Amino acid sequence: MEKLTICGKKRLNGTLSVQGSKNSTLPIIAAAVLCEGEIILHNCPHLTDVGAAVNILSHLGCKIRREGDTLIIDSTNIETSEISEKLMHEMRSSIVFLGALLARTGKAVLSTPGGCEIGLRPIDLHLRAMRDLGTAISEEGGKLFCTAPDGIRGREITLAFPSVGATENVLLAASLGKGRTILNNAAREPEIKNLADFLTLCGAKIYFAGEGKIIIDGVKKLHGCEFRVISDRIVAATYMAAAAVTGGEIDILNFPVNDVTPVLPQFEACGCKIVSDENRMHIKAPSRLKSMGTVRTMPYPGFPTDFQAPAMTMASVAEGTAIFIETIFESRYKHVSELKKMGANITTQGTVAVVQGVKRLTGAKVYAEDLRGGAALVLAGLAAEGKTEVYNLKHIDRGYEKIEEKLSSLGAEIEREV
Ligand code: UD1
Repeated sequence: MEKLTICGKKRLNGTLSVQGSKNSTLPIIAAAVLCEGEIILHNCPHLTDVGAAVNILSHLGCKIRREGDTLIIDSTNIETSEISEKLMHEMRSSIVFLGALLARTGKAVLSTPGGCEIGLRPIDLHLRAMRDLGTAISEEGGKLFCTAPDGIRGREITLAFPSVGATENVLLAASLGKGRTILNNAAREPEIKNLADFLTLCGAKIYFAGEGKIIIDGVKKLHGCEFRVISDRIVAATYMAAAAVTGGEIDILNFPVNDVTPVLPQFEACGCKIVSDENRMHIKAPSRLKSMGTVRTMPYPGFPTDFQAPAMTMASVAEGTAIFIETIFESRYKHVSELKKMGANITTQGTVAVVQGVKRLTGAKVYAEDLRGGAALVLAGLAAEGKTEVYNLKHIDRGYEKIEEKLSSLGAEIEREV
C-alpha cells in the first residue's frame, strides 16, 4: 500500500512556495460553466480534487487543457445538465456545480454528494437557497432533479449559517439570474472573494456590502477571462506548522499574508517569530513550542476548522495544555487516535479536545482518515523520534501538491513508497 515514510527530528530550513488554493480553484472551475468564451486560469494546483472537477467539466461538454499550473477552459457548449453519481462522489464539493448548471441551462440532475468523512455535511442550505431563487427541486432514488424553467429569479435570502459552499452556489446562480439577489449571512472566507473577483472579471455585477451581505445583479451573459487563483492559506499554514514542530526556520513564498491572519496569534503564542511582507513570510520556531491556549474553530475570520488538526500536532509537542473546541464539523477528531499511537496525550469529549503537550512523539504506522487529519500525521512524523509511516495518502493528495517533495526541499527525510 502506498505510504509516506518519514524519519523525524530534522530541523527544517530553506524556502518553499505555496501552491494555488484548492478551495478557490474548485468553485472557479464550476463557474466556468457560466461563461461563454475562453477562460485562462493560472495557479491551479495539481490535486485529485481539481482533477475530479475537471472531469465533471469535460463530461458537461467543456473543452479543457492543462499547461503546467494553467487550465484553459472553453465552455461555449454545455451538452448536458446531468452529472453522474460516480463523478459527483469523487468530490464532496461537486455540489457547487448545482448553481452554475441551473443558471446556465435552467436544469440540473445530480446525485447527492457522498463522502461524509468529517461529519454529516448536509446540503439543505444549498437546496433552500436554490428554491428561494426560483428552482423546483425533487429527490428520487438518491438523485436531485432541479429545474428553473424561467431562469434564476433574484430576491433577498438569508443563510441560516454562513456556509461556504451555499454562498458559492448563490453567487454562481444569481450572477446569471434575473434581477437583484441580496444574500445575507454569507460566508466571508477569502475563497468567496476570489470567486466573486473571477465572476466580476467575466462580467458579473457583485458588490460586498459588509457584514456578510452580498448584492448580485444578474446579467444575461458572462464571458471568458484570464485569472490567477489565490495561494492556499491552509497549505501555507501547514508548512508554517512544519517549521514550528521541528524547531525550524523557513521562508514561504507566494504567501497569502492577509488570509493566514486568523492563525497567526496561535503561532505567536507558541513562541514563533514571524516576519512577513506582501507575499513572503519568514518563520523561526523556538526549540520547544509553548502552549497555544484555547482554539475555537469559527467561520472566517475566525480560526479555520481546516487548520484544527495541524494545529493539534503543534499542541501535542508543545509545553503545557491546549484546548480545542471544534464548532464547524461534528466529526473532525479522527486524527486523535492516530496521534495517540505516536505518544500524544489527548482526551476528547464531544467537540472538545484537551491536549497535554509531551516532550517527544515516537514514530508509528498511522492512517489518514481525512485530508487535514492526514496533514497532521505528516507533521507528527516530522516531529517524532524514529520512523513514521503514513497510509491512506489519497486523502492528503486531495489537498497537498507534492507534499513529500516540498518537505524534502526543506531538509525533511520523507519519501513516498508505492
Ligand atoms: C468548505 C471547504 C472546507 C472547509 C469548510 C468550512 C471547500 C471545497 N471546502 O466546505 O475545506 O472545512 O468550507 O470552512 O471550499 N452545512 C449544513 N447544511 C448545508 C451546508 C453546510 O448544515 O447545506 C453545515 C456543514 O455540515 C458544516 C457547516 O455547515 O457543519 C460548514 O459547512 P460549509 O461552510 O458549507 O463547508 P463546505 O462548503 O462543505
